[in-house]
Amino acid sequence: MARFLIEALRRRKEVGAVAASGRHLAKAITRTVGGKGQSERVLEVGAGTGAFTNQILDRLGPGGKADIVELNPRFCEKLRSDIVGPWSDANRDRSARVIESCIEDADLDRSYTTIVCGLPFNSFPPDVADRILQQLVSLLAPGGTLAFFEYAGFPSLRCVVPGPWRSGAREHRRCLHDLSSSMRQERTFIFRNILPAWAVFLRAQGA
Ligand SMILES: C[S@@+](CC[C@H](N)C(=O)[O-])C[C@H]1O[C@@H](n2cnc3c(N)ncnc32)[C@H](O)[C@@H]1O
Repeated sequence: MARFLIEALRRRKEVGAVAASGRHLAKAITRTVGGKGQSERVLEVGAGTGAFTNQILDRLGPGGKADIVELNPRFCEKLRSDIVGPWSDANRDRSARVIESCIEDADLDRSYTTIVCGLPFNSFPPDVADRILQQLVSLLAPGGTLAFFEYAGFPSLRCVVPGPWRSGAREHRRCLHDLSSSMRQERTFIFRNILPAWAVFLRAQGA
């Protein structure tokens, strides 16, 4: 918790939150991981101190693979030493790797059955959020699911409060709406989190 707060203050724009996600949000957002056998490929984006990573690795079955992308070197170090390293030692029949990179530059496959994104899109500049959202959709396997979260109330607030992001925020809503029109969308409200949030699931067509 302390490490998250220190990094959140040092690198406020990148982290975009004051606290790591709680276990209720982590459970909800990772619910589509697991049960896909050898073909399971999971991508986590913006893992931070591993709130979602722990759940993803718990759920990943034999033969499954997880790529965990995180920009912050301190968080990557913690993910490797505290979570992925010990988990890999105990689970030789499945694999996970931490990729230290921003998602835009990461060299990745285009075949993920589930993508769990820990970037709070509505704390990011809207054009950046849109670009990443479109990139993630393009990395999904047919029938794959992209899960991300939005702090409750933020999207509407950004659309009405005057400021540099207002018009961009409307654009971002439109982008999300356009993407959702060709994908199945589900939302689950998680009250018990700092801050309360929506877990959003977009499912690609196919398979
Ligand atoms: C709000 S934190 C979420 C951390 C964790 N998933 C959670 O829910 O507690 C966002 C994380 O995304 C990382 N991040 C920000 N921009 C990124 C980017 N372009 N590519 C990869 N990671 C990024 C930050 O370093 C930070 O760890």
